[in-house]
Amino acid sequence: MFDIHKIREEFPILKQKVNGHNLVYFDNGASTQKHQSVIDSVNKYYSFENANVHRGVHYLSGLATDKFEETRTTIQKFIGAKYAHEIIFTKGTTDAINLVANAYRSILKPGDEILISEMEHHSNIVPWQLCCQASGAILKVAPINENGELDFNKLKKLISKKTKLVAISHISNTLGTINPVDEIISLTHSVGAKILIDGAQAAAHFKLNMQKMNVDFYCFSAHKLYGPTGVGVLYGKEDILNMLPPYQGGGGNDTRCKLY
Ligand SMILES: Cc1ncc(COP(=O)(O)O)c(C=O)c1O
Repeated sequence: MFDIHKIREEFPILKQKVNGHNLVYFDNGASTQKHQSVIDSVNKYYSFENANVHRGVHYLSGLATDKFEETRTTIQKFIGAKYAHEIIFTKGTTDAINLVANAYRSILKPGDEILISEMEHHSNIVPWQLCCQASGAILKVAPINENGELDFNKLKKLISKKTKLVAISHISNTLGTINPVDEIISLTHSVGAKILIDGAQAAAHFKLNMQKMNVDFYCFSAHKLYGPTGVGVLYGKEDILNMLPPYQGGGGNDTRCKLY
């Protein structure tokens, strides 16, 4: 049985009263509250395990690195990715989309097309506008119908050999519309383009399987999934990630970054 009182007990923030009433929180689509286990885990990390990840040879650095990589494997399983190294930690969905959009700036040529939809969150619009401005590519926008659903026939007409990337939400944050991502992925691949799915609203609700979906990029934010703020995930297929230029330089970059 769904025992709401028991579940409320597990979220310490809900124990407070606001204006004399028990706090009721319904803004989970924007950001979820944190389960006691998440708070305990973050607390344990900073109390007993914290050190520089992948940068030290001492005990705590090894422990922190192991915990970090265990988390990557947990996420790999959570989303059914083939390899743990296909999971890239970002600051959130916005950061994940910007990473891909920045990388695509140097891949796209003038006249190439990026396709998004009318129901996208600004995080899945503005990075592509900037990407198109910088590369000379053209941003196409698939319309929605009066039911708030994607107009699939119009989307079909907008996809062509010129399309290099389709970026679309799994679930709309404003309408709640669930997009037919399987069909969109097949359609995208039929013209040789890649697809990025913004899963910010879907990751908390759907059992995901990247391999079955055959999606190229998928992104989501931990803070909408009961996890900590400031952490997100970009999933990318191994061969496609390897094809992208580095987004940022720094420790851990490989030798593709020429040193001067
Ligand atoms: C569909 C969708 N995409 C992207 C975002 C941006 O997520 P974040 O602010 O965690 O980067 C949101 C946040 O509401 C969203 O709902």
